[in-house]
Amino acid sequence: MSEYLLEVQNLCKKFPIKGGIFGREVGAVRAVNDVSFKIKKGETLGLVGESGCGKTTLGRSILRLIEPTSGSVIFNGQNIVDFDSNQMREMRRKMQIIFQDPYASLNPRMTVGGILSEPMDIHKLCMDKSERRKRLLQLLDQVQLPQDALNKYPHEFSGGQRQRICIARALAVEPEFIVCDEPVSALDVSVQAQVVNLLMDLQKDLGLTYLFIAHDLKVVEYISSRVAVMYLGNMVEVAESSELYGGARHPYTKALFSAIPKPDPTLKKERILLEGDIPSPMNPPSGCHFHPRCWNATDECRQKYPEVKAESGTHEYRCFNPIQLQE
Ligand SMILES: Nc1ncnc2c1ncn2[C@@H]1O[C@H](COP(=O)(O)OP(=O)(O)OP(=O)(O)O)[C@@H](O)[C@H]1O
Ligand SMILES: [Mg+2]
Repeated sequence: MSEYLLEVQNLCKKFPIKGGIFGREVGAVRAVNDVSFKIKKGETLGLVGESGCGKTTLGRSILRLIEPTSGSVIFNGQNIVDFDSNQMREMRRKMQIIFQDPYASLNPRMTVGGILSEPMDIHKLCMDKSERRKRLLQLLDQVQLPQDALNKYPHEFSGGQRQRICIARALAVEPEFIVCDEPVSALDVSVQAQVVNLLMDLQKDLGLTYLFIAHDLKVVEYISSRVAVMYLGNMVEVAESSELYGGARHPYTKALFSAIPKPDPTLKKERILLEGDIPSPMNPPSGCHFHPRCWNATDECRQKYPEVKAESGTHEYRCFNPIQLQE
């Protein structure tokens, strides 16, 4: 058995753009473009990048909540892209997702007990009444909500508590892998740390594997063992999180992480401000998609799309002219 729970290979997702009176396809948004990576069992891979770079599309394509255009998603050794709907229903139990907005993803007319029971009904788990109640109370305990939450409605809870309900709902089917799509971005800063710590404790106790999407690079550094950086649908760099913060090789990663303040103000740090806007994913630049904003770009970068280069086993990047590391 492979040590990897998930292997994504050359995954692409194009959204067609229809136009004209006949609604013909006039172009496509390449939201995810030839993305490959692996996640080990029990690991958290962080996923960062500017708004619109394709993080959510990648997360949803992995779970086939949207159909990938091409590529493979190997989960526990099986390519789930080939699965039919029955096989996929079975697989969904193992792969769950938590969204950014905990209110929008909870049905306001259902009690917490109903919300947590729904996925168990779909997958026919704990169908015996007393067994079900025991399981519901266990789930509430796991996400540190009081037992009387069962009969309450989502609006009776704070944002952080609602996100705990969403986490409990994901856990209800005993998943192995959870895509966390900006799970704390909508929460108050004071509550963010509690929810992040809860996710980390659950990971330890239940052996969960996470793909953790976030804007906040500090949160990502805290929770992730490795971090992947996306730019305009491409994955441009993946490395151990400790390595990325000091030793980024892709200029885009370097610029992204240069924006994080250092805890020690006496340490001098250069802040890199990127010029220009993110180009349109409908019409990406030639060669390396980052070249129009890159201070290291050469003619090669303008003409050719860089292959993946690997360094020290776990560090990979797509760049012809990487940042030179200081000794
Ligand atoms: N259903 C859709 N139809 C057409 N284009 C889409 C669709 N969903 C997403 N896109 C486009 O795909 C690209 C990637 O979007 P996506 O939501 O995956 O980005 P993101 O990295 O999650 O952004 P954010 O950080 O704002 O959440 C964007 O250009 C977006 O406009
Ligand atoms: Mg998103």
